[in-house]
Amino acid sequence: MSRVITYGTFDLLHDGHIRLLERARNAGNYLIVGVTSERYDERRGKLSVHDSLAERIENVRKTGLADKIIVEEYEGQKVDDIQRYSIDLFAIGSDWTGHFDYLNQLCKVQYLERTAGVSSTESRAVKSGIVRIGIVGTGRIANRFVQEAKFVSSVSVEHVFSRRYETASKFRQTHSLGLATKTYDDLLDQIDAVYIATPHESHYDYARRALAAGRHVLCEKPLTLSCEETSQLYSMADISGLVLLEGIKTAFSPGFLRLCSLAQSGTIGEIMAVDATFTRLTGPGLRETSGDSGSGSLTELGSYPLLAIARLLGTEPTQVICDSIVASDSTVDALTRVSLKYERAVATATVALGAKSEGDLRIAGTKGYIYVPSPWWKTSRIEIRGEDASKNVVYVEPFQGDGLRYELSEFSSMIQSKSTHSYKLNRKTSEFIQSIISMSPTIR
Ligand code: CTP
Repeated sequence: MSRVITYGTFDLLHDGHIRLLERARNAGNYLIVGVTSERYDERRGKLSVHDSLAERIENVRKTGLADKIIVEEYEGQKVDDIQRYSIDLFAIGSDWTGHFDYLNQLCKVQYLERTAGVSSTESRAVKSGIVRIGIVGTGRIANRFVQEAKFVSSVSVEHVFSRRYETASKFRQTHSLGLATKTYDDLLDQIDAVYIATPHESHYDYARRALAAGRHVLCEKPLTLSCEETSQLYSMADISGLVLLEGIKTAFSPGFLRLCSLAQSGTIGEIMAVDATFTRLTGPGLRETSGDSGSGSLTELGSYPLLAIARLLGTEPTQVICDSIVASDSTVDALTRVSLKYERAVATATVALGAKSEGDLRIAGTKGYIYVPSPWWKTSRIEIRGEDASKNVVYVEPFQGDGLRYELSEFSSMIQSKSTHSYKLNRKTSEFIQSIISMSPTIR
Protein backbone atom coordinates (compact mmCIF):
# COMPACT_ATOMS: atom_id res chain seq x y z
CA MET A 1 0.00 0.00 0.00
CA SER A 2 1.30 3.44 -0.90
CA ARG A 3 0.64 6.13 1.72
CA VAL A 4 0.45 9.84 0.88
CA ILE A 5 0.38 12.85 3.21
CA THR A 6 -0.47 16.48 2.51
CA TYR A 7 -0.98 19.59 4.65
CA GLY A 8 -2.86 22.86 4.49
CA THR A 9 -5.05 25.36 6.28
CA PHE A 10 -8.02 24.56 4.00
CA ASP A 11 -9.81 27.75 4.98
CA LEU A 12 -13.09 28.35 3.09
CA LEU A 13 -12.51 25.11 1.20
CA HIS A 14 -12.39 25.78 -2.52
CA ASP A 15 -11.87 24.00 -5.86
CA GLY A 16 -8.09 24.43 -5.67
CA HIS A 17 -8.04 22.47 -2.41
CA ILE A 18 -10.32 19.75 -3.73
CA ARG A 19 -8.27 19.25 -6.88
CA LEU A 20 -5.10 19.09 -4.82
CA LEU A 21 -6.66 16.48 -2.53
CA GLU A 22 -7.92 14.45 -5.51
CA ARG A 23 -4.48 14.34 -7.08
CA ALA A 24 -2.82 13.51 -3.77
CA ARG A 25 -5.35 10.72 -3.21
CA ASN A 26 -4.78 9.32 -6.71
CA ALA A 27 -1.02 9.34 -6.22
CA GLY A 28 -1.35 6.48 -3.72
CA ASN A 29 -4.05 4.46 -2.03
CA TYR A 30 -4.19 5.96 1.47
CA LEU A 31 -4.29 9.72 2.06
CA ILE A 32 -3.56 11.51 5.34
CA VAL A 33 -4.45 15.21 5.45
CA GLY A 34 -2.85 17.48 8.03
CA VAL A 35 -5.01 20.51 8.86
CA THR A 36 -3.20 23.35 10.60
CA SER A 37 -4.34 24.29 14.10
CA GLU A 38 -5.30 27.90 14.87
CA ARG A 39 -2.33 28.23 17.17
CA TYR A 40 0.10 26.96 14.56
CA ASP A 41 -1.32 29.30 11.94
CA GLU A 42 -0.94 32.19 14.34
CA ARG A 43 2.64 31.19 15.09
CA ARG A 44 3.56 31.16 11.42
CA GLY A 45 1.96 34.56 10.90
CA LYS A 46 -1.30 33.52 9.21
CA LEU A 47 -3.57 35.82 11.14
CA SER A 48 -6.85 36.04 9.31
CA VAL A 49 -8.13 32.48 8.97
CA HIS A 50 -11.92 32.55 8.67
CA ASP A 51 -13.13 29.02 9.53
CA SER A 52 -12.45 27.39 12.88
CA LEU A 53 -10.27 24.29 13.03
CA ALA A 54 -13.39 22.15 13.60
CA GLU A 55 -15.05 23.61 10.49
CA ARG A 56 -11.95 23.15 8.36
CA ILE A 57 -11.58 19.52 9.45
CA GLU A 58 -15.25 18.89 8.76
CA ASN A 59 -14.96 20.40 5.28
CA VAL A 60 -11.97 18.22 4.42
CA ARG A 61 -13.81 15.18 5.80
CA LYS A 62 -16.85 15.95 3.63
CA THR A 63 -14.75 15.74 0.45
CA GLY A 64 -14.50 12.00 1.14
CA LEU A 65 -10.91 12.10 -0.11
CA ALA A 66 -9.05 11.80 3.18
CA ASP A 67 -8.60 8.40 4.79
CA LYS A 68 -7.31 10.07 7.93
CA ILE A 69 -7.24 13.68 9.11
CA ILE A 70 -4.67 14.90 11.61
CA VAL A 71 -4.00 18.32 13.11
CA GLU A 72 -0.70 20.05 12.39
CA GLU A 73 0.32 21.78 15.57
CA TYR A 74 4.02 22.57 15.45
CA GLU A 75 6.96 23.28 13.25
CA GLY A 76 8.85 20.09 12.47
CA GLN A 77 5.75 17.92 12.83
CA LYS A 78 5.96 16.80 9.20
CA VAL A 79 9.20 14.93 9.96
CA ASP A 80 7.50 13.11 12.85
CA ASP A 81 4.32 12.34 10.90
CA ILE A 82 6.14 10.91 7.90
CA GLN A 83 7.93 8.44 10.15
CA ARG A 84 5.00 7.72 12.46
CA TYR A 85 2.60 6.95 9.59
CA SER A 86 5.18 5.23 7.31
CA ILE A 87 4.54 7.72 4.51
CA ASP A 88 5.77 7.02 0.96
CA LEU A 89 4.87 10.34 -0.65
CA PHE A 90 4.64 13.91 0.64
CA ALA A 91 2.48 15.96 -1.78
CA ILE A 92 1.81 19.69 -1.67
CA GLY A 93 0.89 22.53 -4.04
CA SER A 94 3.45 24.11 -6.35
CA ASP A 95 3.37 27.36 -4.39
CA TRP A 96 5.68 25.48 -2.01
CA THR A 97 8.12 24.25 -4.65
CA GLY A 98 11.55 23.61 -3.15
CA HIS A 99 10.39 24.41 0.36
CA PHE A 100 10.06 20.81 1.52
CA ASP A 101 12.96 19.22 -0.37
CA TYR A 102 14.55 18.38 2.99
CA LEU A 103 11.84 15.71 3.46
CA ASN A 104 13.38 13.78 0.54
CA GLN A 105 15.53 11.88 2.99
CA LEU A 106 12.38 10.38 4.54
CA CYS A 107 10.02 9.87 1.58
CA LYS A 108 9.33 11.02 -1.97
CA VAL A 109 8.36 14.71 -2.26
CA GLN A 110 6.06 15.90 -5.04
CA TYR A 111 4.89 19.44 -5.80
CA LEU A 112 1.52 19.37 -7.56
CA GLU A 113 0.57 22.19 -9.92
CA ARG A 114 -1.51 24.74 -8.00
CA THR A 115 -4.94 25.53 -9.48
CA ALA A 116 -4.80 29.00 -10.97
CA GLY A 117 -7.15 31.82 -9.98
CA VAL A 118 -8.44 30.65 -6.62
CA SER A 119 -7.14 31.02 -3.08
CA SER A 120 -8.44 31.23 0.47
CA THR A 121 -7.05 34.73 0.70
CA GLU A 122 -9.29 35.84 -2.17
CA SER A 123 -12.30 33.96 -0.82
CA ARG A 124 -11.85 35.63 2.56
CA ALA A 125 -11.79 39.03 0.89
CA VAL A 126 -14.99 38.30 -1.01
CA LYS A 127 -16.75 36.77 1.99
CA SER A 128 -15.93 39.30 4.68
CA GLY A 129 -14.98 42.30 2.59
CA ILE A 130 -11.64 43.96 2.84
CA VAL A 131 -11.45 46.73 5.44
CA ARG A 132 -10.23 49.86 3.64
CA ILE A 133 -7.94 51.80 5.93
CA GLY A 134 -6.82 55.41 5.80
CA ILE A 135 -3.74 56.46 7.74
CA VAL A 136 -3.59 59.75 9.59
CA GLY A 137 -0.01 60.82 10.21
CA THR A 138 3.22 59.98 8.47
CA GLY A 139 5.71 59.50 11.31
CA ARG A 140 7.89 56.54 12.29
CA ILE A 141 5.03 54.34 13.46
CA ALA A 142 2.85 55.10 10.42
CA ASN A 143 5.68 53.81 8.23
CA ARG A 144 5.95 50.62 10.26
CA PHE A 145 2.18 50.20 10.15
CA VAL A 146 2.11 50.03 6.36
CA GLN A 147 4.72 47.27 6.39
CA GLU A 148 2.93 45.32 9.11
CA ALA A 149 -0.45 45.62 7.36
CA LYS A 150 0.94 43.42 4.58
CA PHE A 151 0.68 40.47 6.98
CA VAL A 152 -3.06 40.94 7.57
CA SER A 153 -4.93 39.77 4.52
CA SER A 154 -8.30 41.23 5.53
CA VAL A 155 -7.21 44.87 5.30
CA SER A 156 -5.96 47.20 2.65
CA VAL A 157 -4.17 50.42 3.49
CA GLU A 158 -5.50 52.78 0.86
CA HIS A 159 -4.94 56.47 1.50
CA VAL A 160 -3.12 58.86 3.78
CA PHE A 161 -3.76 62.27 5.31
CA SER A 162 -1.37 64.51 7.16
CA ARG A 163 -1.49 68.13 8.28
CA ARG A 164 1.19 68.90 5.70
CA TYR A 165 0.11 67.80 2.25
CA GLU A 166 3.69 67.53 0.95
CA THR A 167 4.59 65.02 3.67
CA ALA A 168 1.47 62.96 2.97
CA SER A 169 2.22 63.05 -0.73
CA LYS A 170 5.74 61.73 -0.16
CA PHE A 171 4.41 59.02 2.17
CA ARG A 172 1.86 58.00 -0.46
CA GLN A 173 4.63 57.68 -3.03
CA THR A 174 6.98 55.74 -0.75
CA HIS A 175 4.31 53.19 0.07
CA SER A 176 2.45 53.20 -3.28
CA LEU A 177 -0.86 54.17 -1.67
CA GLY A 178 -3.90 55.45 -3.53
CA LEU A 179 -4.26 59.06 -2.46
CA ALA A 180 -2.74 61.68 -0.22
CA THR A 181 -5.88 63.65 0.61
CA LYS A 182 -5.91 67.42 1.06
CA THR A 183 -8.39 67.34 3.93
CA TYR A 184 -9.25 64.87 6.67
CA ASP A 185 -12.88 64.81 5.53
CA ASP A 186 -11.72 63.72 2.07
CA LEU A 187 -9.91 60.81 3.66
CA LEU A 188 -12.94 59.85 5.77
CA ASP A 189 -15.13 59.86 2.65
CA GLN A 190 -13.08 57.12 1.02
CA ILE A 191 -12.33 54.53 3.68
CA ASP A 192 -14.02 52.24 6.25
CA ALA A 193 -11.60 52.82 9.10
CA VAL A 194 -8.77 55.09 10.18
CA TYR A 195 -5.48 54.36 11.85
CA ILE A 196 -4.45 57.43 13.84
CA ALA A 197 -0.71 57.79 14.33
CA THR A 198 -0.34 61.50 14.97
CA PRO A 199 1.11 63.32 18.02
CA HIS A 200 -0.80 62.39 21.17
CA GLU A 201 -2.64 65.66 21.70
CA SER A 202 -4.35 65.39 18.30
CA HIS A 203 -5.72 61.84 18.78
CA TYR A 204 -8.98 62.91 20.35
CA ASP A 205 -10.02 65.28 17.58
CA TYR A 206 -9.16 62.89 14.75
CA ALA A 207 -10.89 59.99 16.49
CA ARG A 208 -14.00 62.05 17.30
CA ARG A 209 -14.38 63.25 13.71
CA ALA A 210 -13.90 59.75 12.33
CA LEU A 211 -16.53 58.27 14.67
CA ALA A 212 -18.92 61.12 13.85
CA ALA A 213 -18.49 60.25 10.18
CA GLY A 214 -19.31 56.58 10.90
CA ARG A 215 -15.75 55.26 10.56
CA HIS A 216 -14.07 52.66 12.77
CA VAL A 217 -11.02 53.87 14.65
CA LEU A 218 -7.72 52.24 15.54
CA CYS A 219 -5.76 54.85 17.46
CA GLU A 220 -2.20 54.78 18.73
CA LYS A 221 -1.77 54.90 22.48
CA PRO A 222 -2.52 56.91 24.52
CA LEU A 223 -5.97 57.23 23.03
CA THR A 224 -6.42 60.75 24.42
CA LEU A 225 -4.91 62.89 27.15
CA SER A 226 -7.97 63.04 29.42
CA CYS A 227 -10.37 60.57 30.99
CA GLU A 228 -13.40 62.56 29.84
CA GLU A 229 -12.25 62.48 26.24
CA THR A 230 -11.52 58.76 26.33
CA SER A 231 -14.95 57.99 27.82
CA GLN A 232 -16.65 60.27 25.34
CA LEU A 233 -15.03 58.49 22.37
CA TYR A 234 -16.07 55.07 23.67
CA SER A 235 -19.63 56.29 24.16
CA MET A 236 -19.72 57.68 20.62
CA ALA A 237 -18.47 54.35 19.25
CA ASP A 238 -20.97 52.38 21.33
CA ILE A 239 -23.94 54.44 20.21
CA SER A 240 -23.01 54.05 16.55
CA GLY A 241 -21.95 50.39 16.73
CA LEU A 242 -18.43 51.29 15.60
CA VAL A 243 -15.15 49.72 16.63
CA LEU A 244 -12.82 51.91 18.67
CA LEU A 245 -9.58 50.20 19.58
CA GLU A 246 -6.54 51.61 21.34
CA GLY A 247 -3.37 50.43 19.62
CA ILE A 248 -1.38 48.93 22.47
CA LYS A 249 0.22 46.17 20.43
CA THR A 250 1.27 44.07 23.45
CA ALA A 251 -2.39 43.52 24.37
CA PHE A 252 -3.04 41.49 21.22
CA SER A 253 0.19 39.52 20.92
CA PRO A 254 0.07 35.73 21.45
CA GLY A 255 2.86 35.78 24.06
CA PHE A 256 1.16 38.36 26.26
CA LEU A 257 -2.20 36.58 25.98
CA ARG A 258 -0.49 33.33 27.00
CA LEU A 259 1.16 35.11 29.92
CA CYS A 260 -2.22 36.40 31.15
CA SER A 261 -3.82 32.94 30.88
CA LEU A 262 -0.91 31.29 32.70
CA ALA A 263 -0.90 33.87 35.49
CA GLN A 264 -4.66 33.74 35.92
CA SER A 265 -4.96 29.98 35.92
CA GLY A 266 -3.35 29.50 39.30
CA THR A 267 0.08 28.43 37.97
CA ILE A 268 1.82 30.64 40.55
CA GLY A 269 -1.03 30.71 43.04
CA GLU A 270 -2.62 33.99 44.01
CA ILE A 271 -0.99 37.01 42.38
CA MET A 272 0.40 39.38 45.03
CA ALA A 273 2.69 41.70 43.10
CA VAL A 274 3.25 42.87 39.54
CA ASP A 275 6.32 44.93 38.65
CA ALA A 276 6.83 46.08 35.09
CA THR A 277 9.52 48.35 33.69
CA PHE A 278 9.93 49.94 30.26
CA THR A 279 12.75 52.40 29.61
CA ARG A 280 14.09 53.78 26.34
CA LEU A 281 16.84 56.40 26.43
CA THR A 282 15.61 59.14 24.13
CA GLY A 283 17.64 62.23 23.32
CA PRO A 284 16.37 65.79 23.00
CA GLY A 285 14.70 67.22 19.91
CA LEU A 286 12.09 64.50 19.46
CA ARG A 287 8.32 64.64 20.00
CA GLU A 288 8.62 62.46 23.13
CA THR A 289 11.05 64.79 24.85
CA SER A 290 9.82 68.11 23.47
CA GLY A 291 8.05 69.29 26.60
CA ASP A 292 4.84 69.75 24.60
CA SER A 293 1.59 68.69 26.20
CA GLY A 294 1.49 64.89 26.11
CA SER A 295 5.23 64.34 25.82
CA GLY A 296 7.32 62.55 28.46
CA SER A 297 7.92 59.07 29.84
CA LEU A 298 4.50 58.30 31.30
CA THR A 299 2.48 59.29 28.24
CA GLU A 300 4.94 57.65 25.86
CA LEU A 301 5.57 54.34 27.62
CA GLY A 302 3.11 54.08 30.50
CA SER A 303 0.41 52.24 28.53
CA TYR A 304 2.46 49.02 28.42
CA PRO A 305 3.12 48.35 32.12
CA LEU A 306 -0.33 49.70 33.06
CA LEU A 307 -1.89 47.29 30.57
CA ALA A 308 -0.10 44.36 32.24
CA ILE A 309 -1.19 45.53 35.69
CA ALA A 310 -4.80 46.02 34.57
CA ARG A 311 -4.97 42.60 32.90
CA LEU A 312 -3.43 40.83 35.88
CA LEU A 313 -4.89 42.71 38.85
CA GLY A 314 -7.89 44.56 37.48
CA THR A 315 -8.82 48.18 37.02
CA GLU A 316 -9.87 49.10 40.54
CA PRO A 317 -6.85 49.80 42.70
CA THR A 318 -7.50 51.21 46.17
CA GLN A 319 -4.55 53.62 45.91
CA VAL A 320 -2.41 55.09 43.13
CA ILE A 321 0.74 57.10 43.73
CA CYS A 322 2.61 58.61 40.81
CA ASP A 323 6.19 59.84 41.35
CA SER A 324 7.96 61.63 38.52
CA ILE A 325 11.53 62.82 38.23
CA VAL A 326 11.65 65.82 35.94
CA ALA A 327 15.03 66.41 34.28
CA SER A 328 16.71 69.62 35.46
CA ASP A 329 16.97 71.06 31.93
CA SER A 330 13.43 70.20 30.80
CA THR A 331 9.80 69.96 31.80
CA VAL A 332 9.26 66.31 30.85
CA ASP A 333 9.36 63.39 33.25
CA ALA A 334 12.66 61.62 32.70
CA LEU A 335 11.35 58.78 34.86
CA THR A 336 7.98 58.02 36.39
CA ARG A 337 7.07 55.28 38.82
CA VAL A 338 3.41 54.52 39.47
CA SER A 339 2.75 52.50 42.63
CA LEU A 340 -0.64 50.86 42.93
CA LYS A 341 -2.30 49.11 45.82
CA TYR A 342 -5.11 46.58 45.41
CA GLU A 343 -7.06 44.80 48.09
CA ARG A 344 -4.70 41.83 48.08
CA ALA A 345 -1.85 42.91 45.83
CA VAL A 346 0.57 45.67 44.96
CA ALA A 347 2.09 46.78 41.66
CA THR A 348 4.60 49.18 40.17
CA ALA A 349 4.94 50.55 36.66
CA THR A 350 8.31 52.19 35.97
CA VAL A 351 8.90 54.06 32.74
CA ALA A 352 11.73 56.30 31.61
CA LEU A 353 12.99 58.14 28.57
CA GLY A 354 15.81 59.73 30.58
CA ALA A 355 17.10 56.72 32.56
CA LYS A 356 17.89 53.11 31.76
CA SER A 357 16.91 50.00 33.67
CA GLU A 358 16.10 46.34 33.00
CA GLY A 359 12.88 46.11 30.98
CA ASP A 360 11.43 43.03 32.58
CA LEU A 361 8.13 41.96 34.11
CA ARG A 362 7.82 40.04 37.38
CA ILE A 363 4.64 38.58 38.77
CA ALA A 364 4.87 37.29 42.34
CA GLY A 365 2.42 34.64 43.45
CA THR A 366 1.83 32.56 46.54
CA LYS A 367 3.24 29.42 44.87
CA GLY A 368 5.92 30.86 42.59
CA TYR A 369 6.60 33.70 40.21
CA ILE A 370 6.57 34.52 36.52
CA TYR A 371 9.55 36.21 34.97
CA VAL A 372 9.38 37.78 31.51
CA PRO A 373 12.76 39.08 30.36
CA SER A 374 13.27 42.30 28.46
CA PRO A 375 11.62 43.34 26.21
CA TRP A 376 8.61 41.93 28.06
CA TRP A 377 6.20 44.15 26.04
CA LYS A 378 7.15 42.04 23.01
CA THR A 379 6.32 39.00 25.11
CA SER A 380 8.09 35.94 23.83
CA ARG A 381 9.75 34.03 26.68
CA ILE A 382 7.67 33.31 29.79
CA GLU A 383 9.41 31.66 32.70
CA ILE A 384 7.47 30.05 35.52
CA ARG A 385 9.84 29.89 38.45
CA GLY A 386 9.56 28.62 42.01
CA GLU A 387 11.54 27.74 45.10
CA ASP A 388 12.83 24.58 43.41
CA ALA A 389 14.59 25.70 40.24
CA SER A 390 14.53 22.18 38.81
CA LYS A 391 10.77 22.55 38.39
CA ASN A 392 10.98 25.79 36.41
CA VAL A 393 9.10 25.82 33.11
CA VAL A 394 9.71 28.04 30.09
CA TYR A 395 7.12 28.87 27.43
CA VAL A 396 8.16 30.52 24.19
CA GLU A 397 5.80 32.28 21.81
CA PRO A 398 7.00 34.13 18.72
CA PHE A 399 6.48 37.88 18.58
CA GLN A 400 6.42 38.60 14.90
CA GLY A 401 7.77 41.72 13.23
CA ASP A 402 6.87 44.90 14.97
CA GLY A 403 3.72 43.42 16.49
CA LEU A 404 1.38 45.98 14.93
CA ARG A 405 -0.04 43.13 12.83
CA TYR A 406 -1.66 41.69 15.97
CA GLU A 407 -3.64 44.83 16.83
CA LEU A 408 -4.59 45.31 13.19
CA SER A 409 -5.75 41.72 12.89
CA GLU A 410 -7.92 42.11 16.01
CA PHE A 411 -9.29 45.41 14.69
CA SER A 412 -10.29 43.97 11.32
CA SER A 413 -11.83 40.83 12.77
CA MET A 414 -13.88 42.97 15.19
CA ILE A 415 -15.15 45.02 12.24
CA GLN A 416 -15.93 41.95 10.17
CA SER A 417 -17.68 40.11 12.98
CA LYS A 418 -19.51 43.29 14.02
CA SER A 419 -18.26 42.95 17.56
CA THR A 420 -17.41 46.24 19.21
CA HIS A 421 -15.63 44.85 22.28
CA SER A 422 -12.35 43.00 22.64
CA TYR A 423 -11.59 41.18 25.87
CA LYS A 424 -7.92 41.72 25.06
CA LEU A 425 -8.23 45.47 25.59
CA ASN A 426 -11.65 46.68 26.62
CA ARG A 427 -13.05 50.08 27.45
CA LYS A 428 -12.48 49.68 31.19
CA THR A 429 -8.80 48.90 30.69
CA SER A 430 -8.34 51.83 28.31
CA GLU A 431 -10.06 54.16 30.77
CA PHE A 432 -7.98 52.85 33.66
CA ILE A 433 -4.73 53.41 31.75
CA GLN A 434 -5.94 56.87 30.75
CA SER A 435 -6.77 57.82 34.32
CA ILE A 436 -3.18 57.16 35.35
CA ILE A 437 -1.52 58.66 32.28
CA SER A 438 -3.44 61.84 33.04
CA MET A 439 -1.17 62.22 36.09
CA SER A 440 1.74 63.01 33.76
CA PRO A 441 3.43 66.31 34.63
CA THR A 442 3.31 67.28 30.96
CA ILE A 443 -0.47 67.12 30.67
CA ARG A 444 -1.80 70.57 31.26
N1 CTP B 1 -3.77 24.79 -3.32
C1 CTP B 1 -3.86 24.51 -4.68
N2 CTP B 1 -4.46 25.43 -5.51
C2 CTP B 1 -4.98 26.56 -5.04
C3 CTP B 1 -4.92 26.86 -3.65
C4 CTP B 1 -4.32 25.93 -2.81
O1 CTP B 1 -3.38 23.49 -5.14
N3 CTP B 1 -5.53 27.42 -5.86
C5 CTP B 1 -3.11 23.84 -2.44
C6 CTP B 1 -1.92 24.44 -1.70
O2 CTP B 1 -0.78 24.47 -2.52
C7 CTP B 1 -1.78 23.45 -0.56
C8 CTP B 1 -3.23 23.09 -0.25
O3 CTP B 1 -3.98 23.43 -1.41
O4 CTP B 1 -1.10 22.31 -0.99
C9 CTP B 1 -3.76 23.83 0.96
O5 CTP B 1 -3.52 25.20 0.74
P1 CTP B 1 -3.90 26.43 1.69
O6 CTP B 1 -2.69 27.15 2.05
O7 CTP B 1 -4.79 25.95 2.75
O8 CTP B 1 -4.79 27.28 0.63
P2 CTP B 1 -4.60 28.70 -0.02
O9 CTP B 1 -5.81 28.97 -0.85
O10 CTP B 1 -3.27 28.77 -0.73
O11 CTP B 1 -4.61 29.61 1.26
P3 CTP B 1 -4.08 31.10 1.54
O12 CTP B 1 -4.63 31.97 0.45
O13 CTP B 1 -4.60 31.43 2.92
O14 CTP B 1 -2.57 31.00 1.51
